[in-house]
Amino acid sequence: MNKTITVIRGDGIGPEIVAEALKVLDKIAGKYGHSFTYQEILAGGCAIDAFGKSLPEESLQKCLDCDSVLLGAVGGPKWDGVAKEIRPEAALLGIRSAMGLYANLRPARLFPQLAEASPLKPEIVSKGIDLMMVRELIGGAYFGEHKTAEENGELRAHDDMTYGEHEIRRIAHTAFQTARKRGSRVVSVDKANVLDSSRLWRKVVHQVAEEYPDVACSDMLVDNTAMQLVKNPAQFDVIVTENLFGDILSDEASMVTGSIGMMASASLGEGSRGMYEPIHGSAPDIAGQNLANPIGTILSAAMMLRYSFDMAAEADDIEQAVNAVLDEGYRTGDIFSEGTKKVGCSEMGDLVAAHI
Ligand code: IPM
Ligand code: MG
Repeated sequence: MNKTITVIRGDGIGPEIVAEALKVLDKIAGKYGHSFTYQEILAGGCAIDAFGKSLPEESLQKCLDCDSVLLGAVGGPKWDGVAKEIRPEAALLGIRSAMGLYANLRPARLFPQLAEASPLKPEIVSKGIDLMMVRELIGGAYFGEHKTAEENGELRAHDDMTYGEHEIRRIAHTAFQTARKRGSRVVSVDKANVLDSSRLWRKVVHQVAEEYPDVACSDMLVDNTAMQLVKNPAQFDVIVTENLFGDILSDEASMVTGSIGMMASASLGEGSRGMYEPIHGSAPDIAGQNLANPIGTILSAAMMLRYSFDMAAEADDIEQAVNAVLDEGYRTGDIFSEGTKKVGCSEMGDLVAAHI
């Protein structure tokens, strides 16, 4: 199969980790007879430096005109002072929205080899963690009206958190369909004891749940969910929630696995095209030093093969290669512990590629 992949290396460690994912994709292409064409674009801080804006028209067009997007990371303190419309984060939000990527899938899984890296007590971790966060990605407070204006002699800021029924319905379907392929349990997270947007969320999720009698569905308030994620993360299969809650809870879910550098994500819309990125940031403090962990990006590339290109065997191959390398005891600095073998970013990419 021929696929065109728009590649955004981005800022900080972005270029290093993406290079390793492409190494692995090339190996897959050779083994399975596929051809991947990479079209590189600038987005984020590097685009601000080059063009004065984080998402040039031409870059966005190439995201709309490809089979999927692979992104490293964008942003960094260097661009903290720029206007909000051209911030690196605005590029990410602009791409998500223009591509219609309403469903963000963030698997949080404890790799047994890395159990020691989890900050949770062994008796909690030993029950395992394997959950899928399904985060609504182009609605809620992120995309409601934002304004700061003078009111009664002081500044007042507004971020309108708003959801329409269709936005809730489609992400609920994603969650139930995802659950069917896993443990058939959905926990819908909201703040329905306070927020109208959450009360509507709950109502629509319950309507959609009736179409999936084979999937168990329950509600959980977001504050309680934050607590349950550290108390007993093994209870969760699929969590579905709105944009801002999902942003916060997905960092928490990944951290309890102990290895945010390992975590991948997929952002999907109506068609098969998606955007794939590790969930960690651009880590400017370690950029350019061959210290970053490329596995989150490599596993994101595997998700691209699985969800957008229908290449399940190829995706399995990558995931098994990562597992094998961990079994052999190779670790980047972020997941290193006594008795394991420390390697750099590019060596980790070589090792994974060598197992394919
Ligand atoms: C994420 C990030 C982004 C978000 C930022 C960089 C805009 O935190 O992908 O979770 O808040 O969605
Ligand atoms: Mg986030």
